[in-house]
Amino acid sequence: MEKDIKFFTNGKRIDGRAIDELRNIKIEVGVFKRADGSSYIEWGGNKIYCAVYGPREAYPRFLQKSDRAILKCRYNMASFAVEERKRPGPSRRGVEIGKVTQGALEPALLLENFPKCMVEVNIEVIQADAGTRCAGITAASVALANAGIPMKELVPACAAGKVDDKIVLDLCKEEDNYGQADLPLALLPRRNEFSLLQMDGDLSEEQLEEALDLGRKGCLEVYEIQKEALKKKYVKEDVSNE
Ligand code: CDP
Repeated sequence: MEKDIKFFTNGKRIDGRAIDELRNIKIEVGVFKRADGSSYIEWGGNKIYCAVYGPREAYPRFLQKSDRAILKCRYNMASFAVEERKRPGPSRRGVEIGKVTQGALEPALLLENFPKCMVEVNIEVIQADAGTRCAGITAASVALANAGIPMKELVPACAAGKVDDKIVLDLCKEEDNYGQADLPLALLPRRNEFSLLQMDGDLSEEQLEEALDLGRKGCLEVYEIQKEALKKKYVKEDVSNE
């Protein structure tokens, strides 16, 4: 819903960014001892943990697939993560985000290597500030790599959107709540295909093309940050093992 907000001042956005600029992103790899893989991401004001378990025997057993592992993705937002306290426990929004996260990550994984098994991804949003599904997918993909799950590629994610009739990258909270459109995207960079594409709001065909181009560019920047985070983790460990 659009509100009477001044989205641009001297060409800069509410938080001072250019239209094609991401918020600050920091990713840490391997933050939990008891998970097989884990990560922590700070993306603007978002703070999100991800823990991956598996591959291990799928349970309950009727879920098992004889030719591949199943991927379970759970997205949870803490009550204190948002401005107005969120009711604890499962929500329709959480179920939807878990489902689209699974769809975004699955094509990147070699699940056929692990018949009858499951890989579990747990995403915990501790502080939310718009774009948590994209930040969650980005963190989860790094945590899956940290767990040693065989993958074809990493999956970076990032939203594009429209405010004041302009296409912008990585919506902040006000832009997300009061802008004209929000387009969360996840990219399979080596195949140059999107594995997540949702749209909330209105875009013309040309604006959609422009948003997809900008979103792809954003995802490729996020991809570099993911690779750097993994390198930092493993290069450091190699040095300390010497
Ligand atoms: O987080 P994401 O943009 O993927 O999903 P959304 O459903 O579009 O939510 C946008 C933002 O609204 C979240 O990141 C939160 O900051 C906020 N929100 C909230 O304040 N209370 C909720 N119950 C759900 C979301």
